[in-house]
Amino acid sequence: MIQCSGLTWRNIKRIGLFDSGVGGLSVLRSLVSRLDYSGEKEFVYIGDTLRCPYGNRPDRQITSYVKQLTSWLLQHNIDAIIMACNTSTAAGKEQLVSYAPVPVLDLIDPTAALIAQRGIKKVGVLATAATARKKAFSNIIKSIDTSIQVTEIGCPLLVPVVEAGLGDAHEAQEALKPYVKELIDQEVEAIVYGCTHYPFLDAALKNVLAGMGNYPALIIDPADCLATSISGKSTGALSVQPDAYLSTKFATTGDAETFGRVASRCLKQNVGQVQSVSLNELTAAFVLRRLQKPAMSAPLQLIAPEAVG
Ligand code: DGL
Repeated sequence: MIQCSGLTWRNIKRIGLFDSGVGGLSVLRSLVSRLDYSGEKEFVYIGDTLRCPYGNRPDRQITSYVKQLTSWLLQHNIDAIIMACNTSTAAGKEQLVSYAPVPVLDLIDPTAALIAQRGIKKVGVLATAATARKKAFSNIIKSIDTSIQVTEIGCPLLVPVVEAGLGDAHEAQEALKPYVKELIDQEVEAIVYGCTHYPFLDAALKNVLAGMGNYPALIIDPADCLATSISGKSTGALSVQPDAYLSTKFATTGDAETFGRVASRCLKQNVGQVQSVSLNELTAAFVLRRLQKPAMSAPLQLIAPEAVG
């Protein structure tokens, strides 16, 4: 079971999650569904839809956006942060760990651990271009077991399909086909959703695999791997209570109405009101933290008058 620097999951009350858009909702869904937290946890979710996708951006830019989102989340009294965006983890998890004064969890570590534990030897990872460029999954999987073969590919078409609310449409299958074929050509045993948007393409992926001679791949959702490692329980079918998201605060930098519509479709539940957060507010949250930080970590030294001159 995951322990966050002396703080157990049980003691964490408010959890902040961020993503470039609606993708991180797949992480929220897994946590809400897998953990019997009986309503004592609260989640704050922000999707940076205005600047989505992150997957085509350079690391430095992604990391600076992530610090802004984190600063905003920290204004909401969160006890822990979940990087519900693997592109951000690939771009600079360590930088976020040293920036945030609360525990930071990601999805790649528990996924790699599960793959090694299950004895899977040939893995395919569908990811964003940025995650694949960094070989973010490959490096961590191989750091546990060098004999595991990983094919990690960038799939730039998939995030726009999910953000457009077309996850269940025919276009999703068309977009997936070439990527899945590349993995099947490598005879992978398992396919990992290396981007948090992709679990919303689950039905489409299963149809594509069925159309490719019922290719028998195990599908791995890293959000489930995280939920399993937190709860210490293995997972079954997703089961979300009708009022599961009542105590979740949703926010977006994009259009709140569109985000609410796409999020409700992804979660198959009405998410209610969505707060609109401007980029100016994000910048202000970041600047305020920078102004507060030196005062907290290194108090100003007053020099006694006699010591001067
Ligand atoms: N959902 C994110 C991830 O897990 C980011 C996708 C994007 O904005 O490109 O990588």
